[in-house]
Amino acid sequence: MSDKASSSDINSVLIENRQFPPSGEFASRARIQADDMAALHRKAEEDYEGFWADLAREHIQWSKPFSNVLDDSNAPHYQWFNDGEMNVSANCIDKHLADKAGKHAIIFEGEQGDIQKITYQQLHDMVCQFANGLKAKGIKKGDRVIIYMPMAPEAVVAMQACARIGAIHSVVFGGFSAESLRDRIEDAGAVMLITADGGHRGGGIVELKQAADKALQSGCDTLKNVVVLKRTGHEVNMQAGRDHWWYDVIDGQPTECEPEMVNAEHPLFLLYTSGSTGKPKGIQHSSAGYLLNAVITNLWVFDLQDEDIFWCTADVGWITGHTYVAYGPLAAGGTVVMYEGAPVVPDAGRFWKICEQHKVTVFYTAPTAIRALMKFGDDFPNSYDLSRIRLLGTVGEPINPEAWMWYHRVIGKERCPIVDTWWQTETGANMIAPIPGVVATKPGSCTLPLPGIMADVVNEDGESITEANTGGYLVIKKPFPSQLRTIWGDDQRFRDTYFPKFDGKYYLAGDSARKDEDGYFWIMGRIDDVVNISGHRLGTMEVESALVAHPRVVEAAVVSRPHEVKGEAIVAFVICQGERPTGDEAEQMEQELRNWVGEQIGSIAKPEEIRFADGLPKTRSGKIMRRLLRAIARGEDITQDTSTLENENVVLQLQGKA
Ligand code: PRX
Repeated sequence: MSDKASSSDINSVLIENRQFPPSGEFASRARIQADDMAALHRKAEEDYEGFWADLAREHIQWSKPFSNVLDDSNAPHYQWFNDGEMNVSANCIDKHLADKAGKHAIIFEGEQGDIQKITYQQLHDMVCQFANGLKAKGIKKGDRVIIYMPMAPEAVVAMQACARIGAIHSVVFGGFSAESLRDRIEDAGAVMLITADGGHRGGGIVELKQAADKALQSGCDTLKNVVVLKRTGHEVNMQAGRDHWWYDVIDGQPTECEPEMVNAEHPLFLLYTSGSTGKPKGIQHSSAGYLLNAVITNLWVFDLQDEDIFWCTADVGWITGHTYVAYGPLAAGGTVVMYEGAPVVPDAGRFWKICEQHKVTVFYTAPTAIRALMKFGDDFPNSYDLSRIRLLGTVGEPINPEAWMWYHRVIGKERCPIVDTWWQTETGANMIAPIPGVVATKPGSCTLPLPGIMADVVNEDGESITEANTGGYLVIKKPFPSQLRTIWGDDQRFRDTYFPKFDGKYYLAGDSARKDEDGYFWIMGRIDDVVNISGHRLGTMEVESALVAHPRVVEAAVVSRPHEVKGEAIVAFVICQGERPTGDEAEQMEQELRNWVGEQIGSIAKPEEIRFADGLPKTRSGKIMRRLLRAIARGEDITQDTSTLENENVVLQLQGKA
């Protein structure tokens, strides 16, 4: 270990033990005060269903009130408020027209600097027109619609329009490839694709329509219509009869569209995420339960107040962009900032410039972005006025204490609480996070479960681990409203993945965690074959399947190793047909395979490094020795016994020593 690494490790330990009590300035204005939080926890403990029922009545407008709260008759497919009816889009938009029609709902900035400010009234009109356009194209309640768009206001309009008519959307991140898009269209049985000619990113154009055309070249039999937003204006292919410009779809449509009232349990959306098999799973969320946790966490964790300008930097292709851009802040009547492009265009000051210009007060991003921007030094943030920021947040992966301290000192000017929020695509909203102004923070810990969230760390037998700092399974012991309902089309996989242990009583998050002496949660990592690259989940088997689909690859194993900016990076071990590539050929092959994985999945899945050998290290029973591969990828000394290997030489090859 180098001197530098060891001194930074010592720093981490020192920082980890520090507590940051909420500043008085923040606390005096916060929505939730210590008494409120205590009352919420007490109510949830004493009357769990009553707790959620009260919140659901307070925060959701129902067209038909519910009388059932939690229905566990088909556990673990729990249902909430399932005799009530409502509409998510009406709750996000119409609800505010009486007193906030002229308030900005969305402030958008394109990568090239174009700005669009949309009031609640304008958003209403845009959503209604587009919803009417969708209906005119035959879209009806329950139909699946894929959204593959750049970060543009129209992406939110498309999501809200689907919600308005009861269509089920599934947003596919614009960085995913044509192949990934096709898989999702097919799995969802989608009838429509909403896309754009392209988007601006990193100074170039993301060719969304081109990828969509490629995806639709084969299969996708259910898909009838493609709607194309003109965003970049560059030329794209339009297939007559199938492809329609967005402006033609809304042309002549009225700006009123009665929201379709749906059952509380009606699926609002599917969002595909990686698991431990080669195939991503369509996480299915409900309407009312999802929306409830989305609203309350915007109020409790982000302390959203009427004058706030909230910028969550996540793309709408991820769950964070659903809950903290497209739905939650709007349901809470807030103003959200959306930015189309990369954080370093034209330079590493772009985020801070946007914060200054649009007067951002609450800022939420991923540790990977903080680490990347931290590398450019303090001058960029210091040259902008960040004095309006009052609250900072992080999500997606553990934040290392150094990055936390930089965020606290340079961006938050030591005034702003930092909410480190633990949650997942499957939980729909923040689960473990501090209530700012009340809960003291510790760098690297997501602190304590929110009221009503019965999270715990348990051992193999499902018993609560009481000894401080002892790792175990992170579980949630009671169902909560925004829990995923199932995996689209695969109830069995849903049960096997999330309720495989503890007699199916607890939701198994797939993370390991420990609690410290104050009961604070520290996330330790995944317990399955899922890696976290720049805060994005990827299954190692997904990357392996992509690699073996290449005609020259016979076998592949994928592991991760720590990465300074991305958190984790992918290292692939590959066996090729014929001679093992070496020298220039290995370099060429590595490049070809990286591009290949990019085409099969998307750029985020490209391995950082690929190593070639004649075989993979396996146990006698034929299992790949992943622990050994991880040690090789990390350049660690090999402590495992390798004498049982059929070909000990492969270890030397994989280490680059033979
Ligand atoms: O491992 C945890 C990590 O991200 C996983 C969820 O990934 P995804 O469904 O893509 O959602 C990301 C955005 C919510 C978790 O199982 N994770 C998420 N938040 C944190 C985290 N790890 C540590 N600290 C967090 N705050």
